Amino acid sequence: MIQAITDRRSIRRYKSAEVPSEVIEEILKAGILAPSAKNRQPWKFVVARGGAKKEALAAMEKGLERESACPFLPESAIHLNDAWYTLGVMKQAPVLIFIVNTLGEKMGKPLTIEDRVSEICNTQSIGAAAENMVLTATELGLGSLWICNTFFAYRELCDWLDTEGELYAALAIGYADEMPSARPRRSMKDTVEWRG
Ligand SMILES: Cc1cc2nc3c(=O)[nH]c(=O)nc-3n(C[C@H](O)[C@H](O)[C@H](O)COP(=O)(O)O)c2cc1C
Repeated sequence: MIQAITDRRSIRRYKSAEVPSEVIEEILKAGILAPSAKNRQPWKFVVARGGAKKEALAAMEKGLERESACPFLPESAIHLNDAWYTLGVMKQAPVLIFIVNTLGEKMGKPLTIEDRVSEICNTQSIGAAAENMVLTATELGLGSLWICNTFFAYRELCDWLDTEGELYAALAIGYADEMPSARPRRSMKDTVEWRG
């Protein structure tokens, strides 16, 4: 087993220490080296630090406030508090990396079956890039959090990003200020079916 796979945890408390740019670059390189469907490499990574991070967080906060009055995700309202908590984590982490699916169709556009298959493949490709990045962060002694609560502020964050494609996720990166124990996992028995 690769050590970083067993060592990685979602980190929700960070020290204020900055992460050197060369270290962030190593993490980005690992993302870029991920496999992707038809080698489409459907990703763009927007690194937000300092003032840019503050702007991104302001956009997320605006989105979460708007979500109470005029929800984009009405059926997920029970998770809105969780999104506020995630915003608090994002504030602590010195680096945020927003992951954009450059081939993503804007939310709400009806998809043909072909489009849907393509979207599923691109989503898997982006997941592979994100996993490479969080494992590399672990390997380099950093903590990370993979974040999709950004969807509650989807429009506001897309406006802030001002780039082609669809915001898929964000990664919070920094030096961990906690050591959580491993979260429970479903067993082999529950998840694997051997045939033959
Ligand atoms: C696609 C994805 C989205 C996630 N979004 C969030 C999030 O928005 N906020 C958060 O606190 N954790 C988020 N997580 C972290 C999960 O809660 C975490 O991975 C899971 O509970 C297992 O814990 P572990 O990562 O420490 O093993 C996300 C993880 C994934 C893979």
